[in-house]
Amino acid sequence: MNKKKLVIAMDGPAGAGKSTVARLVAKKMNYTYIDTGSMYRAVAWKVLKEDKGASKTAILDVLKNIQLQLKYGNDKVLVFMDEFDITEQIRTPEVTGLVSKVAQIGEVRAKMVNLQQNMALNGGVVMDGRDICTHVLPNAEIKVFLTASIEERAMRRWKELKNKGYEIGLKELQLEIAARDKADSEREISPLIQAKDAVLIDTTNMSIHEAVDSIIKLCERA
Ligand code: DC
Repeated sequence: MNKKKLVIAMDGPAGAGKSTVARLVAKKMNYTYIDTGSMYRAVAWKVLKEDKGASKTAILDVLKNIQLQLKYGNDKVLVFMDEFDITEQIRTPEVTGLVSKVAQIGEVRAKMVNLQQNMALNGGVVMDGRDICTHVLPNAEIKVFLTASIEERAMRRWKELKNKGYEIGLKELQLEIAARDKADSEREISPLIQAKDAVLIDTTNMSIHEAVDSIIKLCERA
């Protein structure tokens, strides 16, 4: 008998380890991992590329003609915009600096949410973001809110950026993450909050594998 393919939804603030944990859970379950942050980043990347400023009008103009695709290869989610692979470009500090602003716009969110809901229609997905449990997939069988202290999250991002060759002060990074947390949690549309029925996992003193195992256990019980 075929086991039912679950929908696993995961929210949490920047740097909580969501994407690493979600990717590993997807691998263990043989599911598809959908990184919704990469979709908002792709829109921000295109706004910067068009170079017509970052007013709401300019952002909506970019949104009109967007051809966004997530493709799966070599254990990695590849982000394509207009047939170009922009997987690496969407992680630059410039994109990170703009993405919260882009993600606050209702029209941007409506378009991304529609794409995300379509991707989850047949189950067998692990989707992470800020509003997945609360808004995008409220009927998901598994809902998790993954978090960690701001100091720990800043340290993780600092190491990640250093490995990619970006030199940025730890304190500066902590302030930037705090500002992004504030923007994501206080925005009017679909702010980042823990859904009432989401399981809280605090990874401050937890290994990636412990976090993954606790989610796999939730799936086994579902
Ligand atoms: O997870 P991330 O840092 O790549 O996300 C980038 C930004 O996108 C983040 O500042 C908030 C926004 N985002 C969102 O508003 N809703 C989502 N479902 C995912 C991300």
